[in-house]
Amino acid sequence: MTDARLAAVVVLAAGEGTRMRSTLTPKVLHPLCGRTMLEHVVTTARALQPEHLVVVVGHSREQVTAHLAEVDPAAQAVVQEQQNGTGHAVRVALEALPELDGIVVVVPGDAPLLTVETLEALVAEHAVSHAATTLLTAVLDDPTGYGRVVRSGGSVMGVVEHKDADLPTREIREVATSVYAFDAAALQSALSKLTTDNAQGEEYLTDVVGLHHGAGLPVAAHVTPDAGQTMGVNDRVQLSEARRLLRDRLVAAHQRAGVTVVDPLTTWVDVDVQLAPDVTVHPGTQLHGRTTVASGAVIGPDTTLTDTEVGEGAQVVRAHCDGAVIGPDAAVGPYTYLRPGTRLGRGAKAGGFVEIKASDLGDGSKVPHLSYVGDATIGERSNIGAGNITGNYDGQAKHRTVIGDDVRTGSDTVLVAPVTIGDGAYTAAGSVITEDVPAGALGVGRARQRNIEGWVARRRGRAAADGDQGKQQP
Ligand code: UD1
Ligand code: CA
Repeated sequence: MTDARLAAVVVLAAGEGTRMRSTLTPKVLHPLCGRTMLEHVVTTARALQPEHLVVVVGHSREQVTAHLAEVDPAAQAVVQEQQNGTGHAVRVALEALPELDGIVVVVPGDAPLLTVETLEALVAEHAVSHAATTLLTAVLDDPTGYGRVVRSGGSVMGVVEHKDADLPTREIREVATSVYAFDAAALQSALSKLTTDNAQGEEYLTDVVGLHHGAGLPVAAHVTPDAGQTMGVNDRVQLSEARRLLRDRLVAAHQRAGVTVVDPLTTWVDVDVQLAPDVTVHPGTQLHGRTTVASGAVIGPDTTLTDTEVGEGAQVVRAHCDGAVIGPDAAVGPYTYLRPGTRLGRGAKAGGFVEIKASDLGDGSKVPHLSYVGDATIGERSNIGAGNITGNYDGQAKHRTVIGDDVRTGSDTVLVAPVTIGDGAYTAAGSVITEDVPAGALGVGRARQRNIEGWVARRRGRAAADGDQGKQQP
């Protein structure tokens, strides 16, 4: 009966997700570890390489469909106008497809922890057993709320929903996970026989199991050894629990691949982050998006990197970086903010209380203290003095500051862009540089100091003559 072709994966995502209590975000669009729940499920489903990948949408369908088009343009969204149950949802999905031949896998859109390996094992078992239905089951300490798997002499007879179960059935700890592999033709014929004669007045997908068994078709169950993986996310408590489990999985994989994670409990790593062996991650670190860290780099403590590239041997301490490229052996932090378009060359430094955006800092150049560098190009081996500011914005447009190689700017220099400082030039401390400084020159842009002899004594004399009032003067 069963052909081993994977004809379709159907993802169920039409439900309202009432228990999330969100007016802004549909349930399956809540994020964890860098992807929405739906993206996790769709990515896993796509890895099985089905001929059709269908997502059943209903509530907030515009938002969900738009997101799907972004994360998997080849997936097909099918609208279930009324949420008449999981069986109805699958029926609607199949009606939108051409006649299928082979295996149909169904997964719920709210199970982001499911792995490709688990689905592959389910499909493999299904293909070997030539069953009409192979359901993924889990044995739970607390099965409350789940459909119970009813067996007789070991073989699966059917699934009874919690709300429809009598007390002895509720004692059963083996539950349906809403993940199935079906023979397409057998599924189609069972779906046409579903009724709404149950506690929720819905067409239950779980009833397909009993219908197949009743028709004398073989039904198999694949008991997952990792029950946590099948967890459904219905509210925000379960969302944080799922996020923690996924974090544990991701961090453990990095550790096994040679990354030192000092404190897994305070380390968060998105799915697409890449860490080389011999990276060290200190506590309180969050690595987001497409961040990559090369071998020997040390990140943290208390650092957040988003879409940031860190080179070999670099040190990033108590920093917040977004869209930055940090070169090999560069040093960042503590208390440093690197914004999109920042590029630090080899051995470069962005020190304490320094903010940099859209700027290039050449090899060996340093911005060690208390500075803002925006829209600047800085050559090699240059040193930007403490408290320098690039005045890159005139209130209407941004302008560039160009600084050559081996430049030394004095403390508290303001570089009013557009301005160029030539190779080897210096600026005097406290200068407001509004004109280009040629190579090798010293730019001085400040009022000359004058000292007024005897000024303090004269002031005291005046204060005494004014009497008490004088004392109150600041
Ligand atoms: C379902 C199963 C239950 C199983 C549990 C595992 C049924 C009847 N029950 O219960 O046996 O133990 O999952 O987590 O199948 N959906 C639609 N259209 C609908 C109804 C639901 O697309 O008309 C989607 C939901 O968005 C959700 C999924 O199907 O992603 C499961 O629905 P949900 O209401 O969460 O089912 P459970 O009560 O969890
Ligand atoms: Ca659910």
